[in-house]
Amino acid sequence: MITKFMAPEIIFGDHAIHQIGESFLRLGAQRILVVSDPGVKAAGWTEQAVNNLKETGLAHTLYEKVTTNPGTDQVINGAALYREEKCDAVLGVGGGSALDVAKAVAIIVSNGGAIEDYEGVDRIHSPLPPTIMVPTTAGSGSEVSQFSIIIDPKRKKKMTIVSKSLVPDIAIVDPFVLMTKDHLLTAATGLDAISHAIEAYVSVAATPLTDVHALNALKLAAANLRPSTASHTNLEAKRSMAMASMQAGLAFSNAILGAVHAMSHAIGGRYELPHGEINSILLPHVMEFNLIASPSRFAEIGDILGAAGSTENEMEKGRFGIRALRSLAGDIGAPKTLKEVGLNNPDFHKMAETALEDACMVTNPRDVTLQDVEALFLKAYE
Ligand SMILES: [Fe+2]
Repeated sequence: MITKFMAPEIIFGDHAIHQIGESFLRLGAQRILVVSDPGVKAAGWTEQAVNNLKETGLAHTLYEKVTTNPGTDQVINGAALYREEKCDAVLGVGGGSALDVAKAVAIIVSNGGAIEDYEGVDRIHSPLPPTIMVPTTAGSGSEVSQFSIIIDPKRKKKMTIVSKSLVPDIAIVDPFVLMTKDHLLTAATGLDAISHAIEAYVSVAATPLTDVHALNALKLAAANLRPSTASHTNLEAKRSMAMASMQAGLAFSNAILGAVHAMSHAIGGRYELPHGEINSILLPHVMEFNLIASPSRFAEIGDILGAAGSTENEMEKGRFGIRALRSLAGDIGAPKTLKEVGLNNPDFHKMAETALEDACMVTNPRDVTLQDVEALFLKAYE
């Protein structure tokens, strides 16, 4: 079997944010479009990034209107600004949303057309301008991934865009930046990272190179998400969560994901809800469904989550892991049901149809029918 593994250059460590300018110089960039969001700006990180560009003698233009669950209009506006200001490179500073918009802008300015044209796998035909991504949350993994997720408001759909061209040139991961996040965002994004690690590990496209990252990400997140959520100043826990998120990103970027993300994207296209929270609600139900597809892999997940020594039965270990994840999510205050997060009169049939079309569903370890997805949505609802 031939396997491929894509990863950007990675600069990881406390205060790595100060290496942005120097990194763009190495890429030959002169005028940078900085894509960020109001929350990250308020925390001061956008300014730090911009100051670093100025110190290095680089010009910049700021697009800082990215929202949670960004839509096509933000990509259009960001790309227009890039062209007006004659930028030649893109910097994303923020959570997964800002990084995904930064990548989508890079697609449009180099390939033309509308972002909808690139939905699906391998639709990008021309090289992107130089891109550097600086995550300010520990969850999305977008700084290392070949994914960008953008909402098409007309179809009420989260589009999954997958291409090797979307792997940034450089990922700059600074755990120090995570210290300004509140506990809700820390919990939700950390649960997203856990769902990336688990879906990548049981994906039909998993390889030895993705496994090593997925398993280490799960180990780190299982040990550090509680303390990281409890204290915004626990730098040791932040470092571990930053590494967990990045390694989970490397794993899922190359192994792709599964039914949790396919279903979560279907919900996220219709409801303004945090991606990580939806994933953590769906994850145990999807794991129960997928368990028979890969008992040995779910047993390893169970072992990492505390089942080791309790039983030799793989299915039992798998179930232990599912219970352990439920208790982790409960301990950090994550919601348990879709009803609880405010889904009103959900059309699960429509959402199941959307989920089945999502690129992430292809790598789910167990075959999934429309009825299966509807049943999983219903289980997660109550
Ligand atoms: Fe995710």
